[in-house]
Amino acid sequence: MSNNWNDGYVTEVPYTYGYYRELSPSLQRFALLIQGYAPPTEGPYLELGFGQGLSACIHAAATDCTVWGTDFNPTQAANALSLASASGLDVQLFDDNFEQLLAHRSLPEFAFIAAHGIWSWVSNEARQQIVEILRCKLRVGGAAYFSYNTFPGWSAAYSLRHLLALQSDVMGNTGQGVVERLTNSVAFAQEIATKGAAYFKSNPLVTDRLNKLTAYDKHYLAHEYFNKNWQPMHFSEFANWLEPAKLEFAASAHLLEHVDTLNLLPEAQAKLKEIGNPVFRESVRDYFVNQQFRRDIFVRGNAKLSLLEQREALLEISVALLVHPDEISYTISGVLEVTIQEAIYRPLLELFATHKFRPHTLKELARHFPTLLWDQLMQAITILIGAGHMHPVQREDVIKRAKSKSQSLNKEICRRARSNAEIGFLASPVIGAGVKMSRFELMFMASRYAGNHKPQSWVEEAWATLQSQGQKLLKEGKALETPEENTAELQAHAQKFMARLPILMALHVA
Ligand SMILES: C[S@@+](CC[C@H](N)C(=O)[O-])C[C@H]1O[C@@H](n2cnc3c(N)ncnc32)[C@H](O)[C@@H]1O
Repeated sequence: MSNNWNDGYVTEVPYTYGYYRELSPSLQRFALLIQGYAPPTEGPYLELGFGQGLSACIHAAATDCTVWGTDFNPTQAANALSLASASGLDVQLFDDNFEQLLAHRSLPEFAFIAAHGIWSWVSNEARQQIVEILRCKLRVGGAAYFSYNTFPGWSAAYSLRHLLALQSDVMGNTGQGVVERLTNSVAFAQEIATKGAAYFKSNPLVTDRLNKLTAYDKHYLAHEYFNKNWQPMHFSEFANWLEPAKLEFAASAHLLEHVDTLNLLPEAQAKLKEIGNPVFRESVRDYFVNQQFRRDIFVRGNAKLSLLEQREALLEISVALLVHPDEISYTISGVLEVTIQEAIYRPLLELFATHKFRPHTLKELARHFPTLLWDQLMQAITILIGAGHMHPVQREDVIKRAKSKSQSLNKEICRRARSNAEIGFLASPVIGAGVKMSRFELMFMASRYAGNHKPQSWVEEAWATLQSQGQKLLKEGKALETPEENTAELQAHAQKFMARLPILMALHVA
């Protein structure tokens, strides 16, 4: 172990306040259920490497799970704890590394252990510690979620990342900030490309990728490209790593991956059906889709349901619509681009709209659309959840318990939105997950919490808050200069927010 607490991890630039729905227990349960696994019902949840802790706080507020987590960056742990304590959340968040976490005497056995964006960015030693946590602390029947960079999708760009990091190590000087070093190394690689480097000529997609890097958030890129540890891993190697913890692959948390027609041509589907060994089949599938980022759920103990048990469990599940039917595109991109049948989807979506967006159980949906085959209904729901338009709903009793915790967190997030745009999500106790919100929507919500229900006053309050901090709105990348332009733009935001309110109310976010 290196003497530095950060083990070569980029700590110079703060990590963004991301929320990832794949981390939500309700989504993981659904993903397991559609693959025929009995999902963990309740129990503690552990998030490894929680970043700024937004997902951890949202899950602590909006679900029934006791949330534990660690991130060895003390500033990030402090930020996460500050959000949790200002919201009155009962969380167990630490700034331990993975080895120290395991030494906690009170660490319970977890129903869920999750790590988003960790595995590829840590040393082998840290990976071993993670596996030890899984071996000792994931309960039988528990689910482990990991997202990681993988091959073959990263094969060509692997050497681009190497060049960027090498240029920065050799040519960057310590006086330069990480963002400056990143900018310089991207410019260096672009120069090499324009000077005819055969690597770039043979890999035109890598050249595209390089050119697109300039448009990305530099803070995100610094974490992606400049860590000392950065290792994509083939699925079969990853599965081998988890074997000592007795884990086996169950499902992808990225639901679009469950739908073969979105990702595989018929001949590829037929070829994969011939492969009996599940790890080999999944590996070959990665070649068919040129996988570069996996979002895997592994289980400890293969509790498979019978088809009847699976169907009965699914019929009881409710789903909520997160966006207005008019905003949903009928073209869905997996690896392939597929047009879904409006004749099936439109009535399904409109049923939610005509009932004030209240969640519906799959049983209700099956009854309401008797001509739809069960497989068609399941595919439509899986695609809508996978595309982020729907989300599985929690049990009624859980929703009730999560309501006031979620509201406290949401109030705190809205209060902070008055100062900056760092956090762009609120907690929904209905789905047990985060819901994306713009900064202006959060500011309007802050006014609503203060008892103000008139859109014109939301706009006036928001503008007064922005103006007092010398902040202006942007439109098409340009700052709006006059108060009239700013308030007109805020009014447009307020109108959109009004249109979205019925959905936010059904999700108990507003
Ligand atoms: C790429 S970030 C992902 C953060 C968060 N999960 C997300 O997706 O937004 C990786 C995080 O893991 C933390 N981390 C890396 N190595 C660690 C270790 N050995 N022990 C604890 N935390 C670690 C870093 O501080 C960082 O916040």
